Amino acid sequence: MKVDGVPRRSIQLAADGETVEIVDQTLLPHRFGIATLATLEDAAAAIRDMRVRGAPLIGATAAYGLCLAIRRDASRGSVEAACSELLATRPTAVNLRWALDDMKARVLAVDEARRADAAYARAAEICDQDVAINRAIGENGVALLREAAARRAGPVNVLTHCNAGWLATVDGGTALAPIYRAHDAGIDLHVWVDETRPRNQGAGLTAWELAAHGVPHTVIVDNAGGHLMQDGRVDLCITGTDRTCANGDVCNKIGTYLKALAASDNGVPFYVALPGPTVDWTADSGADLPIEERAGAEVSTVTGETEAGEIRTVRLTPAASPVFNPGFDVTPARLVTALITERGVAEASAQGLLALYPERRRAAAG
Ligand code: MRU
Repeated sequence: MKVDGVPRRSIQLAADGETVEIVDQTLLPHRFGIATLATLEDAAAAIRDMRVRGAPLIGATAAYGLCLAIRRDASRGSVEAACSELLATRPTAVNLRWALDDMKARVLAVDEARRADAAYARAAEICDQDVAINRAIGENGVALLREAAARRAGPVNVLTHCNAGWLATVDGGTALAPIYRAHDAGIDLHVWVDETRPRNQGAGLTAWELAAHGVPHTVIVDNAGGHLMQDGRVDLCITGTDRTCANGDVCNKIGTYLKALAASDNGVPFYVALPGPTVDWTADSGADLPIEERAGAEVSTVTGETEAGEIRTVRLTPAASPVFNPGFDVTPARLVTALITERGVAEASAQGLLALYPERRRAAAG
């Protein structure tokens, strides 16, 4: 994507070829800033504090975090300790485990002197692969928007939750990839952007991205979606997923399930866009997935910009009231109309997924 006309990925190697630059998402939408990751600890903190977030980007950042660790110490012990530290940063997005397992296998297969080069090369491939996957998701998903456009006069209204745009990936986005593709192809569309409390990834990040790209959109409170669907003002929903189970259940940002329920009740198609590395083939269903619990302060406070241009955090709840802050929920496959992947559009079921990823058949059976 371009920011102020300059092409930029959400993560990229710095000019020194060793440190890593990220778009600091905690500053958006009020400021656009780049942060530099120079150590394993920087990378782990960036994931934990959500300066980078979104399943594919977490995986890419962990891959580079391992590079930064190996730069300091390439021994097997250092590689294993770094993987454990990175894996512990956030529990739900399976891309983190996927990227670290892949990186670890490749770097430990070569001798110590070649590990840094092997790690940087593979991290770059993981990033390029993510961009290619997202481009294919866009191509496969745009047909659904084209069909919806053919059925109605005026703009196609798409509802999305959280941020599954280019900021959540290395570039291109997952749920937003078909939307960008359709907009660029001249399809008339409008996006309802769920604010996505408590961290406001919709209001702060998705809205910022869509505005920067010129895609017509409107921010709504999380509770408005059901009403809009009843009113016939949503043609389809597209969300992302942090972990897709082998049976087609999807785990995504808290509140996704309620949107899928409302969509089902109103006959609104509910699509989930995902890259292959988001599928956890070891998870039979969503019943046992690790759901991240984050700090209560994300619920009891809110951060924004004052009219004077100052960034302030204010309290919303009584200081004495406890809060509970689960980060994700599971949408059962039966509520998902279809999965949009880099290999095509599939039914949200074991059969649907295995038809697209036949190489997983043996693993799934065993
Ligand atoms: O807590 P976050 O902001 O990392 O959650 C992100 C999401 O839930 C996204 O929808 C998901 O990672 C898919 S992004 C391509």
